[in-house]
Amino acid sequence: MDYLPLFHDLRDQSCLVVGGGHVALRKLRALCQAGARVNLVAPTIIPAITTLAHEYQHLVTCQQRPYTSTDLDNKVLVICATNDGELNAAVSVSARAQRIPVNVVDHPELSTVIFPAIVDRSPIQVAISSGGASPVLVRRLREKIETLLPGRLGELALLASRHRDTVKKLFTSSNDRRRFWETVFDSDIPERVYAGDTNKADTLLKKRLQQAPRSSLEKNGISDNKGEVYLVGAGPGDPDLLTFRALRLMQQADVVLYDRLVSKPVLEMVRRDAERIYVGKKPGDHPVNQSNINRKLVELALEGHRVLRLKGGDPFVFGRGGEEIEVLAEQGISFQIVPGITAATGCASYAGIPLTHRDYAQSVRFLTGHRKDGQLDLDWQNLAAAKETLVFYMGLNGLTEICEGLIAHGMAGDTPAALIERGTRPDQRIVLSDLQQLPFKVSDIEVQSPSLLIIGNVVRLQEKLAWYGETLKKQIARG
Ligand SMILES: C[S@@+](CC[C@H](N)C(=O)[O-])C[C@H]1O[C@@H](n2cnc3c(N)ncnc32)[C@H](O)[C@@H]1O
Repeated sequence: MDYLPLFHDLRDQSCLVVGGGHVALRKLRALCQAGARVNLVAPTIIPAITTLAHEYQHLVTCQQRPYTSTDLDNKVLVICATNDGELNAAVSVSARAQRIPVNVVDHPELSTVIFPAIVDRSPIQVAISSGGASPVLVRRLREKIETLLPGRLGELALLASRHRDTVKKLFTSSNDRRRFWETVFDSDIPERVYAGDTNKADTLLKKRLQQAPRSSLEKNGISDNKGEVYLVGAGPGDPDLLTFRALRLMQQADVVLYDRLVSKPVLEMVRRDAERIYVGKKPGDHPVNQSNINRKLVELALEGHRVLRLKGGDPFVFGRGGEEIEVLAEQGISFQIVPGITAATGCASYAGIPLTHRDYAQSVRFLTGHRKDGQLDLDWQNLAAAKETLVFYMGLNGLTEICEGLIAHGMAGDTPAALIERGTRPDQRIVLSDLQQLPFKVSDIEVQSPSLLIIGNVVRLQEKLAWYGETLKKQIARG
C-alpha cells in the first residue's frame, strides 16, 4: 500500500490554499464543504473564487497577493494549486519542514497527502485513488461506483445512526448487533429509503426493534443459536470469477476456513475482521486432516458462528465438499452451498481452449491424476478410444504416466495437449504440445502448482483463441 487512506475532520481547522485559478477553486470548494476555515492567497484570483468566498464568507478569506512563508502559520493543511514550479517546490519544502500536510496539485512527489476521487453520499463517502498512477482509470471507477450506489444511501446511514443507541442497549453482544443490522439492510427498509419514504422506513425499523428477541446471551448466559456454514467455491484464482452470492457470504462470515488453492486476492475479499484459519492440504502433506476440518466446522457452527468454508474452484468437483456437508447435515447444522468456477472451465476459458466443439469433441471428461497407493487408477482403454476432451486435475506429478498410458492404449502421440499453470491468475502460463512431447517440454521448465492438463483436439484452437497471458504463452509454446 503506497498511501494510507484516512478521512480528515477539518471542521473549523485552518487551511491554506495557494493559487487563484480553476484548480484552486475546486480545492477551495471541497474544503468549504468539509467546513474548513480557508485562507486563499494568489496575485490573481478568478471571479468564481470570489463568488464562492462570498457564499462561504464565514469560512473563507481571500488575499490578492503573492504567497509568503508566514502564510503557513497555524495551518493544518496546505494546498498548492499553481503552475509555478519554483513556488510549488518552495511551499512544499516549508510545509514539510513544519510537518504540515501538503498537497501540490498534480505533483505527488511534492506532496505528503493526495486527494482521492470522491463518491459522496454523506455520511457515506467512497474515496478512490491510484496514487497518481492513473487518474483516468480512477475517474472511470468513480463513474461506475456512482451508478452503483443509490442516491439516497446517505439517508439510510442517517436512519441507522438515529437508532444506533437503542440497538446498542438492546443487544449487548457485537455479533448480535451486527446480525440485527444485516437483517435490516437485507429487508425492504433500504428500498423504502431509496424510494424517498424515510418515515415508513423509520416505522418499519422501530417495529423490528420491538419484535427483536433479546440476545440469547443476555437471557441464558450462553448462546443457543446454531450458526451456519457456507460452503463456497472460490474459483481458480481470479477474484472477478466469484459469484455475487459467494461475495455476499464472504462479507458476512465470522470465521473462514480456507484451502491452499484459494488465491490471495480472493481471500482479501473476505470480511476484514473475520477470523482466518488455514486448513490447506498438499498431495502427501495434510497438516490438518479431513476429519479435523469436519470437526472444526461443526464446533464453530455450534458455537453460533457463521462459518465460511472457502474452497478453490467448485467445492463439489474434486473438493471433498460433499463429505464436509454430510457431516453438517448429520448434526442438523444449516448450510448453504455456493458453486464456484471449477479449474477445468476457468483454465480452459482463460487459455482459449473450448472444452467441447462441434468439429473436435462432443464430450468432456474431468479426471483426477492423483495416484492412489502409487498407482493411477484409470480406465485407459476407454479414455484412449473416446473422441472427447480429457481434463486431468492434479495431473502434474503423474504427467508422464498419463501421456505414456494413453499412447500405450492407442491414442495418437500427436494428440494436442496443454498444461495450464496457475490458470486465471496474473502469472498464468500455458505449455502447448502433444502427448508425446509434453512431458519433455514440462521437464524443461519449472512448472508450478496448481496446474491442469487438457488433452484432445480442442487444444488445436488455442493458438487462434488465446486472449490471456498471450506473450508468455507464445514464448513457452515455441520454446
Ligand atoms: C484438489 S483439486 C481441487 C479442484 C477444485 N475443487 C476445482 O473445482 O477446481 C486441485 C487441482 O485443481 C487444479 N487447479 C485448481 N486451481 C487451478 C488453477 N488456478 N490452475 C490450474 N489448475 C488448477 C489443479 O489440477 C489442482 O491440482
